[in-house]
Amino acid sequence: MAQSHQEPGLVADDVARFVPQDVDPASLPRSFALVEPMPAQAPVPGTWRSTPEFETDGPWAATLAVEAGTSLYGTGEVAGPLLRNGFVTEAWATQPFRIEADGTPVPNYDERSKSLYQAHPWVLAVRRDGTAFGVLADTTYRLEIDLRAGVRFSCETPFPVLVIEGARPQDVVRRLAELTGRIELPPRWSLGYHQCRFSYHPDSRVRALADEFRARKIPCDVIWIDIHYMDAYKVFTFDPEGFPNPRATNDQLHERGFRSVWILDPAIKVEPGYLVYEEGVAERHFLLDAEGREHREWTWPGDAAFPDYTRPETRAWWARHTAELLEHEMDGLWVDLNEPSPILPLGAELPDDVQHRGGGDIAPGSHAQYHNVYGLLMSKATNDAMRAARPDRRPFVLTRSSFIGGQRYAATWTGDNVSSFEHFGWSVPMVLNLGLSGQPNSGPDIGGFAGTPTPELFARWIGLGALLPFSRTHSALDEGDQEPWSFGPEVEAIARTALERRYRLLPYLYTLFREAAVTGLPVARPVFFADPVDPSLRSEDQSFLLGTDVLVVPASLGAAHRAPRLPRGRWRPFTLAGEDPETSPAHPVLRLREGAILPVGPGGETTGEAFEGPLTLLVSLDAAGRAEGRLYEDAGDGFGHLEGGYRLTTFAATSEEGRVRVDVAAVEGRYPGKLRGFDVVVL
Ligand code: GLC
Repeated sequence: MAQSHQEPGLVADDVARFVPQDVDPASLPRSFALVEPMPAQAPVPGTWRSTPEFETDGPWAATLAVEAGTSLYGTGEVAGPLLRNGFVTEAWATQPFRIEADGTPVPNYDERSKSLYQAHPWVLAVRRDGTAFGVLADTTYRLEIDLRAGVRFSCETPFPVLVIEGARPQDVVRRLAELTGRIELPPRWSLGYHQCRFSYHPDSRVRALADEFRARKIPCDVIWIDIHYMDAYKVFTFDPEGFPNPRATNDQLHERGFRSVWILDPAIKVEPGYLVYEEGVAERHFLLDAEGREHREWTWPGDAAFPDYTRPETRAWWARHTAELLEHEMDGLWVDLNEPSPILPLGAELPDDVQHRGGGDIAPGSHAQYHNVYGLLMSKATNDAMRAARPDRRPFVLTRSSFIGGQRYAATWTGDNVSSFEHFGWSVPMVLNLGLSGQPNSGPDIGGFAGTPTPELFARWIGLGALLPFSRTHSALDEGDQEPWSFGPEVEAIARTALERRYRLLPYLYTLFREAAVTGLPVARPVFFADPVDPSLRSEDQSFLLGTDVLVVPASLGAAHRAPRLPRGRWRPFTLAGEDPETSPAHPVLRLREGAILPVGPGGETTGEAFEGPLTLLVSLDAAGRAEGRLYEDAGDGFGHLEGGYRLTTFAATSEEGRVRVDVAAVEGRYPGKLRGFDVVVL
């Protein structure tokens, strides 16, 4: 039976909070999504457009009716199309797996997967008239999200619902970011290209890889070190044969202009004599089963115990070991398997009755309650540890599992995908829906994790992946090589050009990351953002926008796919690295909005080079002969930018009698040094 809510209240003019009838708001668990608890301040006015109906007799449910013509998005990390109408998914952090044709189960996903590694109990709805609302089911428990008729959330425990209203979808996304937090501006090097595999091992192979990039003059900033660096997969140890001197490995990478990111799994091998395990036992850092015994699962090192990140003491212990690890000068950390996932049997999860003991502002609770925030808490513990160990450097953490709001602590990638055109096609919609769910910094494993791509697929994927916010190639153990040169000279040339394009775009991309850190607007945005009332754009999910000004139009995925729907107005094509998307369809066409000025840099093999040297301003005049654009600059690392140590320059172009002039219209911030010289190219 549907019942109405009680005590609905405005949190702000455009945000209302609803609690099911007969539920004492004070009895609800604390929010992990919201930065601050949100007490209601005023009654919801009668004109409020979208109000949930609660059901309280069965599973708890909340339904919001939607008007005809409403498009639904969000729900975080989901495979399949951008437009989510008709889908039923679950907010439940999962290591998904598929059954191969020969019956082997393999850890990856497809469109039918109900849930992936991250949980976002959030839906963005765009009405036919272009106005929008967003709905957050503010619970960490397993939640079904049914988008077959309106928006319906259901859950075993009661939950409050927050509704955000906006004149445009952008307003709702900005508001979501205000409530759930924004990214910290990432270190500038992390905007470069990343090369990963499972695993580059031993250390000599890492060095050779770095040399190969430089010898071939292929832009790259970061090399990733997967689990084989550890001694028998024991967290916070090093393989004495393969990585006897990790500090030297990092020094050698740094000398060659690279950074390194090293993996950390949560599960700690059960082994007497292994210090981290012994401390964990002595200091009671591990999750307990229902009987109060240490809970164990089978992971990479065999039997393992899981840190209880709800405990402040455990986060401090994790931070201490992380700080010791960082003495070897790794630049970033990658936290994985934190749904949390056992390795065997495939599909296993920690039981719901495993106990988290909490502490501080986190109440003790069951795994049913804390499963979905395990990744978020591990990301937070790791991010806090990096910041404490290196107060002058911006932390860089990549996480596989997360929860809505997790963008505060880590970037994400879309997990173990497959080297197939189908997965390639999900790259853009997945990144876009993550962006609409609060996480602007994400990307797929370029080339696919499981399997080996054909040369054509790799070329297409790196051509596209070079234009996504987080750009990393990765592949699984026992798969073929997936370096830019692994597919022959033709694909190598395409990969080089693709990455050169990224490196020329970096000044603009960095400006967009800064915007994401300040406003929460995503770096990669759906095309419908350019015109939220144009119904033809609502399902476009191969083309996308970078910020408001650059439209990225990949070549079609074949006859089964329709031609891209592009926003109205003039979007002028431009090139950056001598590419010709006509003859080389791996390179998406880039177009600049009329009325925009795009700052591009000189490119280079590292982000260090790409942010030096003269700029080129590409100008696309509007019908009135004007254009405007912005460029954000700062030291690239550290926190000086928060104290005014940055420069945000606004360029304005005008044209008179066929002559275009570009002026610096405004400068914000106190960044030392002169603005770099610039050339102007009018498209
Ligand atoms: C998981 C991760 C993958 C990683 C592997 C080994 O499958 O998703 O990226 O390479 O574990 O650490």
